[in-house]
Amino acid sequence: MEKGAVTVSAPGKVILAGEHAVVYGYPAIAAAIDRRLIIAVRQGKKSKRYTGLVEFALSQILKPGEVVDLKIKSKLPIGSGLGSSAALATALVWALKPSLSVQAKNRLVKIIEDYQHGQSSGVDQVIVRQGGMLKFQRGKFKPVKLKVKQAILIDSGRPKETTGEMVKNVAEKKPVTILKKIGQIADNWSPGLIKENEWLLEQLGVVGQKAQKIIRQIEVIGGMAKVCGAGGIKAGSGMLLAHHQDQGKLLKLIKQKHWRYLKVSLGEPGVRYEKN
Ligand code: PMV
Repeated sequence: MEKGAVTVSAPGKVILAGEHAVVYGYPAIAAAIDRRLIIAVRQGKKSKRYTGLVEFALSQILKPGEVVDLKIKSKLPIGSGLGSSAALATALVWALKPSLSVQAKNRLVKIIEDYQHGQSSGVDQVIVRQGGMLKFQRGKFKPVKLKVKQAILIDSGRPKETTGEMVKNVAEKKPVTILKKIGQIADNWSPGLIKENEWLLEQLGVVGQKAQKIIRQIEVIGGMAKVCGAGGIKAGSGMLLAHHQDQGKLLKLIKQKHWRYLKVSLGEPGVRYEKN
């Protein structure tokens, strides 16, 4: 990206199954996608003032008085369930602290992720780091081989709530049976289970009206779709993972309705240093 800079890229992610339940120790299936965030860092060069998550991250990563100049480019929509904050935190730590051990880097990323999301399960930071497709449970993960190599993601609008607020909403209900069923879906995942997974997420109360309306229209033509992150109630619910046996039919509906969508490939590489 820039000569003389350390450049790092990190992928976004989708949760194919298990969001919310993963916070309670049930498994989740996640995949890294081919939309990346890229950061180029020049140490010692006077920086502009950063705000929000970047400001907090720098306060955790840099020593007092240390200055850096950052150039950040991202193809990930912010706050839509595609792991933009995990990609940002991971890329920043990898770019600014290349000599730290992976464990030490992970600890820093977790502090930044927890600042953004409240207590998180850790699935986002693991998939962004490792890449590929993973089954994640209680901090442990293993690669999974799935036939699905691509996904269609439909934008139901940016949620008004943060991930932390959505996780708190679920915690207040303590819906043990629903969480357990979501966990069972993640254990034996295939695209055909998206419909049931969505129905359970609606019972959890994480899917807003706007997203439900889109999903019902997809179901009318024989397809299915689900929220693929924390969701949202007051406005949008983030990106929806959509599936149809006949992808042409799904794309036709998307175009007819003028829905914004992304076609992403799954199982992409995790965080990596890029050549300048
Ligand atoms: O931040 P999002 O939208 O990618 O959602 C993360 C998944 C949750 O299960 C809702 C939270 C977590 O920490 O696992």
